[in-house]
Amino acid sequence: MSDQAQKLRNLIRQREGAATPLSEAAPQSNARIITVTSGKGGVGKSNFTLNFALCLLERGYRTLIIDADIGFANIDVLMGITAQTNLLHLIKGEKTISELVQTGPGGIQFIAGGSGMFDLLRLTDEETASFTNQIEELCGMADFILFDTGAGLSKETQQFIAAAQETIVVTTPEPTAITDAYALIKMVRNEDPDVTFRLVVNRATSTREAKATADKIRMVARRFLDIEIASIGHVEDDHLVSRAVKEQTPFIIAYPHSAAARSMKVLVDQFLGQPSKADLGGGMKKFLKRLIGRTH
Ligand SMILES: Nc1ncnc2c1ncn2[C@@H]1O[C@H](COP(=O)(O)OP(=O)(O)OP(=O)(O)O)[C@@H](O)[C@H]1O
Ligand SMILES: [Mg+2]
Repeated sequence: MSDQAQKLRNLIRQREGAATPLSEAAPQSNARIITVTSGKGGVGKSNFTLNFALCLLERGYRTLIIDADIGFANIDVLMGITAQTNLLHLIKGEKTISELVQTGPGGIQFIAGGSGMFDLLRLTDEETASFTNQIEELCGMADFILFDTGAGLSKETQQFIAAAQETIVVTTPEPTAITDAYALIKMVRNEDPDVTFRLVVNRATSTREAKATADKIRMVARRFLDIEIASIGHVEDDHLVSRAVKEQTPFIIAYPHSAAARSMKVLVDQFLGQPSKADLGGGMKKFLKRLIGRTH
């Protein structure tokens, strides 16, 4: 373990132990922090995250999206917004967290990604303290915090998944997407046995196809990894999704009666009906501890 990592751990421990006015002031969070991932790229994670978040918001849940795709952050593009600020500004101390949260269509709140956001892993103690203070403010802001990640398993994505402890794996019915989804689950599982996985089948042409797709992954996971993976449901393959992307408007808003939107709403109800590991989550503070605590 490097000195830097040890210093960070000590810092977090101190902050947890000491009843400083700051920690007293920090709002308690029950926010469920969820990463959205996939093995194969381009399966629809970003569109799923955005429209799923909008549905949660519509049902009265305060929902925040954080674009954590460090390579190709683009959730703002899907909303037709040119993000002026991103997490990098927070890390550099140029902006406060409230200045970073932007409002998109339908009133959805989001923080845009920045390609240098993992500079956070190389901060000084002081900078880390300031960063965590700022980000803890998110705790009081949301019921759900959704991280849209890049495809595949980069070191950074793995850190986010492990820190959140709950991940939605998006796949399509294509065999290549299915095998890559399984490979991702297997890799995460090897590193972090505590992570909970949920499956979403995007671009399904029928409920039957979606179920068959999810069952394939669930079966191999049960047999070879000894885990039960719940499926949340599916989003229909629908040309209106592509049209909505071109119009830079979430499909839930642009085409609320489309097959994709209708299936998404059913999916959200199923998701909300499933038991969660929220108790285990522990909110943003634990998330940060897990994120920063395992970076070296
Ligand atoms: N349900 C759907 N029906 C039809 N087309 C879809 C659907 N979902 C996504 N797509 C198409 O797939 C494209 C890629 O979607 P998206 O950008 O959300 O994928 P991604 O997984 O986030 O990609 P990346 O891995 O590059 O981050 C969309 O632009 C759209 O054309
Ligand atoms: Mg994406």
